[in-house]
This record gives sequence, C-alpha cells and structure tokens, in this order.
Amino acid sequence: MSAKSKILVIGGMGYIGKFIVEASAKAGHETSALVRETTVSNPDKLKMVHKFQALGIKLVLGDLYDIESLVNAIKQVDVVISAVGIPQLADQIHIISAIKQAGNVKRFFPAEFGNDADRVHGEAVEPAKSAFESKAKIRRAVEGQGIPYTYVCSNYFAGCVLPIPSQPGDKVVILGDGNPKAIFNKEEDIATYIIRAVEDPRTLNKILYVKPPANIYSFNELVSLWEAKIAKSFERVYIPEDQLLHNIQEASAPLDIILSVGHSVFVKGDQTNFEIEPSFGVEASEIYPDIKYTTVDEYLNQFV
Ligand SMILES: NC(=O)c1ccc[n+]([C@@H]2O[C@H](COP(=O)([O-])OP(=O)(O)OC[C@H]3O[C@@H](n4cnc5c(N)ncnc54)[C@H](OP(=O)(O)O)[C@@H]3O)[C@@H](O)[C@H]2O)c1
Repeated sequence: MSAKSKILVIGGMGYIGKFIVEASAKAGHETSALVRETTVSNPDKLKMVHKFQALGIKLVLGDLYDIESLVNAIKQVDVVISAVGIPQLADQIHIISAIKQAGNVKRFFPAEFGNDADRVHGEAVEPAKSAFESKAKIRRAVEGQGIPYTYVCSNYFAGCVLPIPSQPGDKVVILGDGNPKAIFNKEEDIATYIIRAVEDPRTLNKILYVKPPANIYSFNELVSLWEAKIAKSFERVYIPEDQLLHNIQEASAPLDIILSVGHSVFVKGDQTNFEIEPSFGVEASEIYPDIKYTTVDEYLNQFV
C-alpha cells in the first residue's frame, strides 16, 4: 500500500484552516501548515502553535506573496489545501503559479468552503458578489493550468453562522420570508470530509458538496426546531429583501459580507436551488456514509 499523501495547508491557522490541519494530522497524513513569521510569533497564536506541535504538524514559514516560499513548501508535499480568507481569494493566483512551478502536486483544493460560486443563481449583491466571482475566477485558472483539483462547497459553518440561538430576547430576526433551505455543517465534519476526499478518485476534478440530508433547514424550520427544544416561542421579525438590500449598503465590514452572503443563501436559496449532477459533483455524506456527521438537531443541544 502506498504511503498517505503529504498535505500542506496554506492559511492553516485561520478559522477553517485549523480544523483542516487537525483533521489531516489525525487521519495520519504528514501535515504542514504554511504560516507567516508574524503569526507564529503572535502571543495570541501560541496555544495553537503548541497544539499543532503536539500533533506533529510541521510549521513552514512563508507568505502568499513570497512565491519562492510557496514553491519550496509545495515541493515537499503531494496535496495543497488553501484556506486563505476572503481578502486573499483572488491572490491565490500565486499558489497556482507556485504549483505549476513545483510540478509535483496531485491535488489542489483552493479556498472555497461555502456556496458553489458557479451556481449562484440569484444575482448576488456586493460584497458577496465579488467574493463569489473571485472563487469562480480561481476555478477557471486552476482548470486552465490543468491542475488536478477538488472544490469544496461546504455551505455554512455551523459554529460561525447558525443564526440561532445567538439571537437575544424574545424576537428572532429572519432574512427574507424564511422559506428557502440552507445547509449548516459542523466545522470538524467539514474538515473530516475534506481530508477523506484528498486521495479519492471520485472527487478528482469534481465539486465536493457537504449537503447531508439532516442539515438542510429553512430559517423558519430552524426557529421551530429551537422553539421546540427550549419550550419557548419567539416573535418572528421578517426583513423583506428591499430592506435587507438597504441594510447591506449601509453596513460596514464584516457585517456587509455576512448580510450579502445571507441574502444569497436565505433570500435566494443559492445553497439548495440546484441539483448535484454526477458530471460535476458528489455529495460527501453519500460517498462517505461511514463518517457520522453531527446533525443540526444534535448541534443545537449544546446550547439548551
Ligand atoms: N461557509 C461559511 O460559513 C464560511 C464562513 C467564513 C469563511 N468561509 C470561507 O472559508 C475560507 C477561509 O476563510 P476563513 O474565515 O477561515 O479565513 P481567516 O480566518 O481569515 O484565515 C485566513 C488565513 O489565511 C492566512 N493568510 C492571510 N494572508 C496571508 C498571506 N499573505 N500569506 C499566507 N497566509 C495568509 C491567515 O494567516 P494569519 O493567521 O497569519 O493571519 C489565516 O490563516 C474562505 O474561502 C471563506 O469564503 C466560509
């Protein structure tokens, strides 16, 4: 049996990156995280640095804007996963150049981890529109260079975006009419699926959707589920699309990106308004039925 792929995560100390790095190490892959010198020396990151070291994760100093550091780090591995943040999405073009230069990469996962940027049917508004466009442009560049890839559409991160029960008081604010379905997945589960996909021929040059059946809820259904759990009812305050669009224009970062993605998901239904066709994608819980994912219902129990 051949050895497991060596994995490099760029942005491995970021919000989703740290889950991916840990899942990779725990699955027995030789794992490295490309980190900036300023980050490693940041006292706030010390705990994470120690955790990574305890898991045997190699920290490689580098920067997205230092191509030599990228090429050197990439040459040591088989698989590159980018988890850079929204401001760096377009600049992943440097990773693509470095992968071409290194010439050894078996699979590249660009930073995606949200909606399917090629299937945003509902006319996204800024600043989400630009973020989706950057992701789509990076896809075209990857394909243009003939780099083997997997794009991960993990939909919403539960720990970051599950819109209840963080809402205080007796009212719950719902974007739109609350009926389009969205998808919420626990970060650890997303990371486990990503790492499983690394060596899977079924995910080669495909989109991996994390759309497990028990995690698909409309905003209204989520409120009802929460109400049943805590035996309390909320007044539902609906924000019509016109009002939401106005609020997005008035908002500053990062609220504007949160609301504009919310518009795409909760008003336009962009996470669920298309079918996954075998020609372009596979669904994670379907191809990895042995991975027991956390359902939204189970996830909410921790807040009861
Ligand atoms: N589905 C969802 O609910 C959801 C929510 C949020 C984000 N996302 C998506 O997830 C992806 C990652 O976002 P995130 O929020 O996890 O990102 P993040 O927390 O902002 O982390 C970004 C990472 O990129 C690194 N980075 C930034 N500039 C760099 C540079 N010049 N060189 C090397 N590394 C650099 C950062 O390093 P430092 O640690 O050194 O700063 C950090 O580790 C994005 O595609 C985003 O759209 C999805």
